Amino acid sequence: MVRVLAVNSSAPESGVLDIAASALRSGALVAFPTETVYGLGARGLVEDAVAKIFAAKGRPPTHPLILHVDGEAMAREVAYWSQSASDVARAFWPGPLTLVLPRRACVPGIVTAGLDSVAVRFPEHPVAVGIIARVGEPVAAPSANAHTRVSPTEARHVLESLGDRVDLIVDGGPCWHGIESTVVDLTGEPRVLRAGALSWSELRRVLPNLRAPGYSVAEGVARSSPGLSTVHYAPSARLVLVDARSLAEALVRETTAAQRVGIVVWSEEGREAAGGPSACELALVRTLGPGPVEYARALFSALYDCDRAACTVVLVEEPPKEDAWAAVNDRLRRASAHSPAPFV
Ligand code: TXA
Ligand code: MG
Repeated sequence: MVRVLAVNSSAPESGVLDIAASALRSGALVAFPTETVYGLGARGLVEDAVAKIFAAKGRPPTHPLILHVDGEAMAREVAYWSQSASDVARAFWPGPLTLVLPRRACVPGIVTAGLDSVAVRFPEHPVAVGIIARVGEPVAAPSANAHTRVSPTEARHVLESLGDRVDLIVDGGPCWHGIESTVVDLTGEPRVLRAGALSWSELRRVLPNLRAPGYSVAEGVARSSPGLSTVHYAPSARLVLVDARSLAEALVRETTAAQRVGIVVWSEEGREAAGGPSACELALVRTLGPGPVEYARALFSALYDCDRAACTVVLVEEPPKEDAWAAVNDRLRRASAHSPAPFV
C-alpha cells in the first residue's frame, strides 16, 4: 500500500521531510509537490532508482528526466555552467524554469536518455527544496502521472494515476502554478523546448535572443526534446477544442450521439453555451480563468474531474492565442491529439 503523509506546504514539518528523504535515500519512489505539478522522485544519480521511475510511469527510455537540485552549486555538479545559465538562474531560480545544459560524466545515461545534455531545475516549493536538501544530491523527478496522462496538481491525482506504483506520497495540497516548468535549451542558441509556467516574454528580458516556442513543435525540436514528440497530458475522454461560436452546436451533436460530455469554458460566450439547452445533459462543467495563470492552475484538475465523472468527450473552448496562454494552448493541443474524430 502506498503511504500518504500530509505536510504543511508553507512551513513543512521536518519530521515529514526526513521520512521522505530517507525513503528516497533507500531507493524508494516518493511523490512530492513542487510549485508546478507533483513530481515522482528518485535518487537522480543512482541508475536502479531512476529505472523505477520509468517502470512506474510506463515511460519510454527515450524520454529524459529533469534533475531537481537545491541550488546552483548542486546544479554545477551535474551540468557544465555558462554565463547565460548564471544570468537566467539568478533571475528565475528557484522557480518554474528547467535548464538544459551539457552534462557531466556523473549523470547516468538513463537520466538523459543517452543525450549529451542534462535538464536541471531548482524548485521553489519549500517541500520540494526541503526534501532535496535532506537527500543531499539531485533528485530525478518527472511529473507523477502515468505516461501520456495528465500531470497531477494534487496528491489524489497521483493516487488516481499511479496508485501503488509509488511508495510514498507527500501531500502538500494543490500546486501553485498547475502546469509544468518552462524548459529552455542553453546548449546552443537559447530556445524554449517546452512552454511552461514561466512565459517567453519574461525570459526574453534576460535572454534577448531566446527563440519563441511555436504552437506546433517542429521536427527538429521534437528530436532534441524527445518527451515532447508524442501525445501527452491526455485524459481518458476524447478532448475536442472548439471555438466559442461552435460550442453550442458541438454540445448538441455530442449529447445527441449519447456521449457523456464534459465542458471546459473561460469566456462569457462559452459560459452561455454551457448554460444553454443541452446543458442539463452535461456530466460536468468547469469555468476556468479568467486569465492564463488561473486557467493553468485549474486545468489539469478539471481534466482529472472529467475522468472521475466518466466523461467520454470533453469539449474545451479554445483559449486566446497570446503568448501568456502559450503553455495552456500547448497542453490542450497535445491532449486533443489522440482524438480519433476531431470536431469539424
Ligand atoms: O515542472 C516540471 O518540470 C515537473 C516538476 C515535477 O518539476 N517535471 C516535469 O518532468 O514536467 P517531465 O519528465 O514530465 O518532463 C521533462 C521534460 C520533457 O519534456 C523532456 O523531454 C525534457 O524535460 N527534457 C529532459 N531532459 C532533457 C534533455 N537533456 N534535453 C532536452 N529535453 C529534456
Ligand atoms: Mg510529464
